[in-house]
Amino acid sequence: MENVLSGMRPTGKLHLGNLYGAVSNWTRLVSEGYNCYFFVADLHALTTGLSKVSEISQNTIEMVRDWLTFGIDPSKSTIFIQSEIPAHSELTLLLSMITPLGWLLRNPTYKEQIENLKDNSINTFGFLGYPVLMSSDILLYDASYVPVGADQLPHLEIARWISRRFNHLFNKNILKEPKPLLAPVSKILGTDGRKMSKSYNNAIYLSDSDEITEKKIKKSYTDPQRKRRDDPGRPEICPIFALHRIFTDKNKTSEISTVCRTADIGCVECKKILISNLNNTLAEYRAKRMEIGKNEILDMLHDGTKNAKIKANETLDRVRTAVFGQSSFFKS
Ligand code: TRP
Ligand code: SF4
Repeated sequence: MENVLSGMRPTGKLHLGNLYGAVSNWTRLVSEGYNCYFFVADLHALTTGLSKVSEISQNTIEMVRDWLTFGIDPSKSTIFIQSEIPAHSELTLLLSMITPLGWLLRNPTYKEQIENLKDNSINTFGFLGYPVLMSSDILLYDASYVPVGADQLPHLEIARWISRRFNHLFNKNILKEPKPLLAPVSKILGTDGRKMSKSYNNAIYLSDSDEITEKKIKKSYTDPQRKRRDDPGRPEICPIFALHRIFTDKNKTSEISTVCRTADIGCVECKKILISNLNNTLAEYRAKRMEIGKNEILDMLHDGTKNAKIKANETLDRVRTAVFGQSSFFKS
């Protein structure tokens, strides 16, 4: 079966948007039988500023705890920590030698962030090289498919160019050209009606308690045009309705859609139904989350990293042989 690889920067606890967007896509790929690698992109966390480095280890544990809670099965996939595998750094250096600067300078993510530069700390060699590091992540594991959000497509395109250029320059088929697997756009909105995001402070977390979840839903935006109880609503733009689609059964959801449009249900009642369904579904996850201890996570990451390292080193040997004519001067 073909390889799939994806990573996330260690930002800490995951919210419903991350889980029902990216992570549910990952669990699907595992269940379809792909040979999946998932990793904590802690080196990438260093490229966008050093202000939060002290949080990386704690954030790694919390993020991986949510992966496991949400159904990423370490017996059916390989879960690892990027910075623990030196091959990522070494391949990045080797690939940097064949990566034209123009590809990196024209990268839209780079241009955007440099233009909005408030924080001079990202004006680094490492940040410019973000896509080269990401290419190494992917190419080390011969990944056929890389599930990512739309924002990562330019980086994936660079990974494809780099693999092709490497193979062309060394006249061999050393690096597998990866393809993106675009995650379906998460329909989950934040409690302010914008995209759910940690930085907007509008997110609901798997780790939130019943009470906090209830509070967040009660305070959430609905259809802003529904000022009075008898104003008709527009479920399609309402963040509460977006959550019903996931947490409420189909029949009830379509009923809510109808009675919202005719103003036969009020937002308070509509939210009550959601709170109950949301908390019922999340209860199981919350309980599971509490049972996964830090040592269990570390043991699992240790095993996963060990296995990933074997694969990464095989690819690196191939690359070194292509570049230097041998994987090492000193091998017998
Ligand atoms: N850049 C990705 C993000 O911010 C994380 C990432 C790093 C990644 N390396 C990767 C994703 C390799 C897929 C494949 O979301
Ligand atoms: Fe949103 Fe429900 Fe209010 Fe309609 S009734 S606007 S779906 S909260």
